[in-house]
Amino acid sequence: MQTTRGWFISVEGIDGSGKSTHVQFIASYLQKRGKRVVVTREPGGTEVGEKIRDILLHVNEVHRITELLLMFASRQELIYNVVKPNLDSGVCVVTDRFIDASIAYQGAGREIGAGVVDQLINLLEPKMQTDLTLLFDAPLSVAMERIVRNRNKDRIEKETKSFFTNVQNEYHKIYKTNGDRVKLINTDQPIEQTQADIIKNLDLIINREHVD
Ligand code: TMP
Repeated sequence: MQTTRGWFISVEGIDGSGKSTHVQFIASYLQKRGKRVVVTREPGGTEVGEKIRDILLHVNEVHRITELLLMFASRQELIYNVVKPNLDSGVCVVTDRFIDASIAYQGAGREIGAGVVDQLINLLEPKMQTDLTLLFDAPLSVAMERIVRNRNKDRIEKETKSFFTNVQNEYHKIYKTNGDRVKLINTDQPIEQTQADIIKNLDLIINREHVD
């Protein structure tokens, strides 16, 4: 008997975009619709990944190439140990960030360039892309205000406004060139409206059953 593969969903957005508030909402909605779901995050989500996360976010100085390589090291562990096995056994995987974050933060924010990030994408085993990416978005001034209010900023949240401008512009580019996969969700509106927008986009893929 064939197993229906689980859906692979990521949430993305610049720091302060309000995305993390909605991860559990997404998982609960999928469960309500009869899906089995695991929630995970990047960097992190595995034993190795969580140790890498600690280095990435809490060591004061990390070279930008080291940062890029560590993001992908964490990603490889997550794909192999969490994403692939769950999707194969029919479980949906909701991840707080995936490959798009490296394109936006390292490729554009750190100005490493998309070509180098692509080389690392090609190294991943197995290669994976999400079925749906919800890109949480708010005006930069709103996101920056949310970051400033956070008293326990990590290394990346301490970055400049011009860094986050580049990251956000790149996310918008990713959205414009991957419209089938990436859906923009405005978080600068009442939470009920944001949740309604999330549901509308989840329903689009839930109603598109797939078998591999
Ligand atoms: P989080 O705060 O959304 O959990 O993400 C941790 C930080 O890591 C956030 O500032 C974005 C950053 N990040 C990258 O720079 N590149 C990546 O590939 C990923 C997954 C996260």
